[in-house]
Amino acid sequence: MAESRHATASLMVAGNWKMNTTVDEGVALARAVCVAVAAKERVDVAILPPFTHLWAIRSVLEGTGVRLGAQDVYWKDSGAFTGEISPAMLAGWCDLTLVGHSERRHIFGERNHEVGKKFVASLAHGLQVILAVGETSDERDDGRTFDVVNRQLDAVFAELEIPPAMDAWVIAYEPVWAIGTGRTATPEQAQEVVAHIKQHVRARFLDGSPRVLYGGSVTAANAASLFGEADIDGALVGGVSLRAEEFGVIVAAAETAACARDLD
Ligand code: PGA
Repeated sequence: MAESRHATASLMVAGNWKMNTTVDEGVALARAVCVAVAAKERVDVAILPPFTHLWAIRSVLEGTGVRLGAQDVYWKDSGAFTGEISPAMLAGWCDLTLVGHSERRHIFGERNHEVGKKFVASLAHGLQVILAVGETSDERDDGRTFDVVNRQLDAVFAELEIPPAMDAWVIAYEPVWAIGTGRTATPEQAQEVVAHIKQHVRARFLDGSPRVLYGGSVTAANAASLFGEADIDGALVGGVSLRAEEFGVIVAAAETAACARDLD
């Protein structure tokens, strides 16, 4: 897979398929995504199909520059952990993992320190990791958004023995109230929290911040305005990532934003 593309791209668009598609449908969707995002040189594109699909889709993506990610991972290498998948099993052929998605936190009860262990285990196996953070609508209404994301980030940092390279991880700011609801954060709301996250990370790791994506009801219609915000480095896309053409429009908006940032 094209690692060099990751190194030079300035925005990232990742498609989280969640628990959707059969293997055959997933392979067909992956092929359609590759066509829809072809020749976008400035965007790091990744898809995150279900575990059952990863091995088959790996060969579909070969040579396309589209990278392959897992939606979750366990933190142990092997052992009596029925139903879990370890980063050791993904290492070497899968490019990245997603940890801390709000559905993992809220439906499956994952706690901040468990997310931290998954984060560290992914890095230890050379997998790039997307760390998802975000507040619920009650937390936002109570004015606790920054506190919540700080706590989610700090719990992960507490598990680290050495600071990670900034290109080894990506943060996705995903307000829970915007995921799958059609209620997108405004570009200003997203920018405010993304800028705060970068500041918080910089205060902890003096050599900068990783890319920070926005996620939560991103569509072909709202992507360009989100990418127009200075600190938003791309998107983690759920529902729309199942529709190749529309996903391609989001990637095209990221390409345009990447070029515009060069001119600034
Ligand atoms: P959505 O999901 O785009 O369907 O809101 C985003 C996500 O869960 O990552």
